[in-house]
Order: sequence, then structure tokens, then C-alpha cells
Amino acid sequence: MCGIVAYIGRRPATPILLEGLKRLEYRGYDSAGVAVLEGGKLKMARAVGRVRNLEELIEKQGKFEGSLGIAHTRWATHGGVTDKNAHPHCDDSKLGHGIAIIHNGIIENYASLKTYLTEKGHTFVSDTDTEVLAHLIGEVYKGDLEKAVQAALREVTGAYAIAVVCQKEPDVLVVARKGSPLMVGVGKDEYVVASDSSAIVAHTTQAFTLADYTVAKLTRDSFRTSTVDDVPVNAQVKELEFDLAEIELGNFEHYMLKEIYEQPRALRMTLQGRVDMRGGQIVLGGISQLARQLATSRRIVFVGQGTALHACMIGTYLMEELGKIPSDWSYASEFRYRNPIVEEGTVVVAVSQSGETADTLAALQEAKSRGAMALGIVNVVGSSISRETDAGVYLRVGPEIGVASTKAFVGQVMVASMLSLFVGRRRYLSADHVTKFLQALDRIPAAIERALLLSDHIKKATEKYIERENWLFLGRGLNWPVALEGALKLKEISYIHAEGMPAAEMKHGPIALIDKGMPVVFVATRNSQYEKVLSNIQEVRSRGGHVIAVATEGDEDIKSMAEDVFYVPDVPELLQPLVTVVPLQLMAYHAAVMRGKDVDKPRNLAKSVTVE
Ligand code: M6R
Repeated sequence: MCGIVAYIGRRPATPILLEGLKRLEYRGYDSAGVAVLEGGKLKMARAVGRVRNLEELIEKQGKFEGSLGIAHTRWATHGGVTDKNAHPHCDDSKLGHGIAIIHNGIIENYASLKTYLTEKGHTFVSDTDTEVLAHLIGEVYKGDLEKAVQAALREVTGAYAIAVVCQKEPDVLVVARKGSPLMVGVGKDEYVVASDSSAIVAHTTQAFTLADYTVAKLTRDSFRTSTVDDVPVNAQVKELEFDLAEIELGNFEHYMLKEIYEQPRALRMTLQGRVDMRGGQIVLGGISQLARQLATSRRIVFVGQGTALHACMIGTYLMEELGKIPSDWSYASEFRYRNPIVEEGTVVVAVSQSGETADTLAALQEAKSRGAMALGIVNVVGSSISRETDAGVYLRVGPEIGVASTKAFVGQVMVASMLSLFVGRRRYLSADHVTKFLQALDRIPAAIERALLLSDHIKKATEKYIERENWLFLGRGLNWPVALEGALKLKEISYIHAEGMPAAEMKHGPIALIDKGMPVVFVATRNSQYEKVLSNIQEVRSRGGHVIAVATEGDEDIKSMAEDVFYVPDVPELLQPLVTVVPLQLMAYHAAVMRGKDVDKPRNLAKSVTVE
């Protein structure tokens, strides 16, 4: 969602801000803007569309010099996608303070604040909640920006990460957060603030994350952190573990493709140091202290959204099969509002790549407030969800830039299987059983490498169906969430309408959709439900549908039933999603490229969805 970059130091701010915005482009946005304090005056530019539009505008407007500035990519929530709604927003010009603000999040009580300010004579020029906050800061400003920000935030409910500058204080940058991510990079005589580390690491690897309700006042050579009530708090500056090459495209045309190909290496990282083959153990340092509590828990609920939700579904199967604990999954957004029953011994596992998804974070908080143990399966270290949990396991798959989640999905499934083994070993599973399973897990990266060799074949097959606007994805058991994931991948980046469902469900209505030539993708690997899936394939064929199958290497029978078959290596049933998803990711990728879509930045989508 919205991306924030701010700079205070001794170098020209504009190039740093623009470069930072480009690093954050992957988060998804619809407009961008920048404000720089130049010779004690605010210079601002805002433009709908890509950051390059903003760059062109800045070039047209002349120099944007100055070593203090703020910049933003906006993903519209309040108000349409227009220049005037793009950030930065200013306080009321009548007051003459010259305050400018950028904001990620939602000010929930903005309507009542707006009424209050309007009655005080403020006039607003945009439709945004952010402008209301800018005016509120201006209203309470009495010559000290830090104090004004604190005072304004005490009146605000909702979520925010903000950066604020004021013409009257050319040596001060004030930033604050609650609920939305914000990080402060600490350089020599300079600070680079951003929504995530990708916009910081080119400048410094020292950084601190702001805790909720914390305000930081940054000057060129010092900083002070406090609560919104002005109680000083300590900020721990830490080394960022980040390799710049991980966020470069390298020889790939798109981040999504790069990340699909990174999956074997990523999973080797997920496994590294966590597998004790000899002892038949899985070593998960992050949750070891809660091992007993976890193994004796009564119920486990996985919550997430989108791709992470599909990993949750798979996690449920794995936990029941390996951990033998009653398990369930739920959309985080539904869980939190349905008055969930959290009995003693309930564990809620939040699954999230970004660790910032608002619905997942809120579900976790709800579960905790009802007494559940809160675990996280998260990729981004130090993210809001990872900090909210009692314990957790990181994915370690490296930064995921493409909006379509790929390597995070396999990481989530891999960690869910490790978590299930961890629990199972403490309950019923013998060391031998676990060792066998671990050996199979260890072979997964190589199996994915083989599946990746299918790319050209998949591209050719996809070409045949590229004009079709409606696709079905079907599977049974663990192949059902994979079918859902295949449909989600296709629709989100190629804008083709795709539905995923359990293969058996087709007969209960969706079969009416099947007409001559409709592509129907079956995840039809050899497993306990294979024969049943073959029957479903026949039902589609007899209605003229085109069957595309993901099948197990060596399965000759399926050849006569499907127009196209993508063979993946044979792996144990419980681990099949880790390989069967790969052809579907490649298929979605090739379809989007063939249709000329912006693969890494699909329309209307954001990488991390930080609003409900
Ligand atoms: O960061 P998270 O894993 O919590 O994100 C959850 C979903 O927003 C995300 O998986 C989304 O569905 C992706 N666009 C799917 O490719």
C-alpha cells in the first residue's frame, strides 16, 4: 500500500526521495508526490500514475533543491485518484505555518475532526483523511513541530505512519507510527525514513523501527523518540540484514519470474539449520519456549488473507495429519468479526508474507484478547504481526517484491509442515517417521527445480487458451487450495476471470459454466483422491471443456484425458502443494506477459494491504 520516504541530512534530498519511491513501487500505488524544503520554502509536486510522471513534473517545475524532504506513493482509500488527493498534504495556508505531511493508514475519526476544524474556519482542498490530520497539526502548532504532532495524534483514532515537515523549522523532520509500518535508517549526519528497508539499505544498514504510538524527532545529527504523551522511549538501532542484490531484478524481466525461480534457494534457506535428520527432530528456535504449551493445545486456527490464506488451508491439513490436533482455517477478516470462540488451549497462527496485513493483524489481536496463544508464520522480520505474536517462525525466503506472492507461498507451506512436525514429534510421531518426512522435505527444492524446467512447455500451452476469458481450477484435498492459488494468480496479474474450487463442488452448480473450449485446470497428482479426480475430468471433457492437468511424472493414463499435461516430480502427498503450485505460477506469469499486463504491479493491487 502507500509508500513513505523521508530524508534529512546534508545531501540533496530529491534524488534520494525519488529513488526511494521507486524501491517502494512494488507495494502498489496510483499516484505519487514529493515536498522539499528549499531555502525555507516548501516546494511540492504531485502526479497521478507512475513515479516517472512525478519526475517529469519536477523537471518541468525547475530545481527541487534542499536536504530535507518527504515523498509518498498513494494507494487511494479516501477520495479518488487525482493530483489533489495525492500526498503530501498541507495544513491550512491561512495559518502560514507551511506544514506538509505524508501518511500511510486511515484516520478513522477524520469526519468528526473535519467538522471540528471546519467550524474553526479551515478550508480543505482534497477529499482525504490525511489533509484533515495536516490541518489538525497546523491548528495545534505553537512553534514546536514535535509537540504539535504529538498533540494532534492524541486526538486521532485509526492507523498511521507519517512524516511531517514545517517551513518554520527547516532542520526538523518529525515521524510517527501506529499500526502502519515505518523504519528509520540512521546514517552519518542523515536519516532516511521509509515504509520498509528496501528504500533504506542503499544508504545505511543501521536502522530502528518505531513502535506504535511513538514519535521521532530527527535533526541532521540527532534524534529523540517519545510517546505521543511525550514520555521518552528508547529506540534500538540494529543492523539490517538485507542484501541489495535481493531486491535487484538481475537478468529477469520481472520480479515475479525472478521470485518463482528463487523458490528452490529460498526453501533451502527456510530449512537451513532447522532440520535434525539424525535425531528425527525439527528445530524451531522461535517457538521452542512454547513447545509444551503448543503440543498440548486443543485447537489450532490458521488465519490469513489471499495467498497466505491458501497456505493456511494447507497448514490445517498438515497439522491434523502430522500434529493430530483439531485444526481449522479462517479468513482473518472474517475471524475477527464473527465473535470467535477461543477456549483454553486455542492457538491462533497468523500467516503473512508482509506481516503488515491489517486484517490478519487485527484477527491476531482479537484472538489474543480472548486468551489465545498467538503464533506467526511471517516473512518480514520485525513486522507488526511478528511483533504482536507470542512466538513464531520466519520464512527466510528473502524480500518478495512482485505483488503476486510466489516464493512466500511455498515458504509458508514449508514452515506449516515444519510446525506440524514439531508438534507431531512431541505427541505421536516417532523419530523414524519424522526423519523420513524430513528427507522428503529436503528433496523439495530439487523437485521444484525440475518443475521449473516446464516453463517453455507451459508458455506454449498457455498461448492456446490466451483468448479465453473464463477459466476453472479444480483439485481435491490438498490440491484444492493449490487450485485456488492457481486461480488467484491468474486473475490478479492477467485479469482473466478464474475460479478455483474443490473438484467435487463443480457438479453442484459451476458445471453449468463449462462450454466448448473452456480451459479447466485440474491439479491431478497421484494421491489418495486421484481416481475421483479422473471422474471429474471426464465430466468436464464430456461437456467440451479443455482439460489442462498438473500430474505426477510417469502418469501415462492422464495423457489421454487432458489436452495439456504438466508433469511434476512425485513427492509425498502432504508435500505435493509445494511442487504442484509451480506450473500454475508459471502459467499465470506467461498469460499476463502475453496479454501485455504489468506483471509486478497489477492494477488496483497493493503488495501489503494495510487497510481493512
Ligand atoms: O502479506 P500477506 O501475506 O499477509 O498478504 C496477504 C495477501 O494480501 C496476499 O497474499 C495477496 O493475496 C497477494 N496479492 C497474492 O498474490
